[in-house]
Amino acid sequence: ESDFRLRGRAAAKIVVLGAGVAGLATAYELGKAGYRVTVLEAQDRVGGRNRTLRGGDRLTETGGETQRVGFGDGTYMNAGPARIAQWMTTMDYCRELGVPLEVFTNENAQAYLYNESAGMKSPVRWRTAKADVYGYISELLAKATDQGALNERLTATDKERLLSFLSGFGAIGAKTDGYAYKGSDRRGFTVDPGAGDVEGTILGPPPSLSDVLASGVGRYFSFEFGYSQAMLMFQPVGGMDAIPRALAKAVGPDRIRTGAKVTEITNLAAGVRIQYEAAGRTRVLEADYCIATLPPQVLAKIPHNLGAAVQSALGTPVPVSTGKIGLEYRNRWWETEEKIYGGITNTDLDLSTIWYPSYDYHGRSGLVVGYYNFGAQADTYAKMGHAGRLARALDQGAKIHGDRYRKGLASSASIAWIRQPHIEGGWVGWPSRGAEYKLLNQPQGNVYYAGDWLSYEIAWQHGSFESARKVVTELHQRVLKG
Ligand code: PHE
Repeated sequence: ESDFRLRGRAAAKIVVLGAGVAGLATAYELGKAGYRVTVLEAQDRVGGRNRTLRGGDRLTETGGETQRVGFGDGTYMNAGPARIAQWMTTMDYCRELGVPLEVFTNENAQAYLYNESAGMKSPVRWRTAKADVYGYISELLAKATDQGALNERLTATDKERLLSFLSGFGAIGAKTDGYAYKGSDRRGFTVDPGAGDVEGTILGPPPSLSDVLASGVGRYFSFEFGYSQAMLMFQPVGGMDAIPRALAKAVGPDRIRTGAKVTEITNLAAGVRIQYEAAGRTRVLEADYCIATLPPQVLAKIPHNLGAAVQSALGTPVPVSTGKIGLEYRNRWWETEEKIYGGITNTDLDLSTIWYPSYDYHGRSGLVVGYYNFGAQADTYAKMGHAGRLARALDQGAKIHGDRYRKGLASSASIAWIRQPHIEGGWVGWPSRGAEYKLLNQPQGNVYYAGDWLSYEIAWQHGSFESARKVVTELHQRVLKG
């Protein structure tokens, strides 16, 4: 597969608003085709939501405090995007830009499931939950099949084949045992198999069918059936920001102005005029075309002459709250004590998920993501200061990991994307991809829009890359036609 590139050279001056993944990819592709590009970025760094937090970083929130990240050398947290599916265009850019990848573990049999509201007394391992849910479902379906309940749907041969499948899938008993599920070594062991006469002790017995259904643990299994969340997944070695760093390097740092906050967008009869503030001074940049890659809720606050329909369309998608906390520990107790090497614990607590690192296994220290949640759960944490978030994350997480969750904590940092200046959200949701979505997927005069919010993979870098490719292709066609 060859790299994407625009065909045929053209010359025009383009200003790109925003140095997030969409803006950088736009500038990169236009630069490859010979365009003169300037990128304006309000923040003092590139990457936008693609942000990796490391020791020494400062993290400032709107109306909040500034955190000074204290992580040790080599420890990082991907505060924004953290996983890449193999089919995504993001993988192609990693190859093209020479960004090394490693596996990101999105699902791990050793991680936990915990539904407090279902009255679960303690978390269960994914493997145990799967053994029990698959076991009982198989038992039920085998019984129904054997008793003739599915005779209208199944031939005699179908029934034989289905029973044979269920026997293996659920590890259930034989017909003479009523196909009963009674647990299996798939649940795990309390004493692991060893040498000589150490056969191992299987964890059991399983809870009753009724209790397994009541626990609701099965609801998490379908997550990785999704096209975008299935293993294997990947991450750049050393942090997700390797992607924007590589893009910025390829674009050329001299073409990117950070600390440049756009204050007015004017569509001209020929070209565009962009007014911005940098270092306390108002500046003006004129170009042939503008590609605006800011989030719609941010773009909507900038004065422009693009018309009422554009303004109304920019206000249509709804910003979604999301947040994370990084908990750095002096030892990797999740590996040594709990035998968890990467992956995710899912819960119905407001922390939603706990992520174990998919890098630096058996290292001296390490970082767990103590919550990654969306919507109302993320708002709960966003409203607190960092100290409050940390206290709550530890209280909730201790329900999974017990007292060791509070011990050996070295440092922590949290992000609430809804409170990030110039970003103001994790991503957006369109009530529907109606007229407003279609309008902004077209240029108004000499102004184009790009970003994951104009794609069918919102909240993924894939969406940003695809949107960038779409817009540069359309613009290039127009410039070639002259
Ligand atoms: N891409 C983000 C993630 O992987 C947000 C997202 C979550 C998108 C779930 C779709 C589904 O967490």
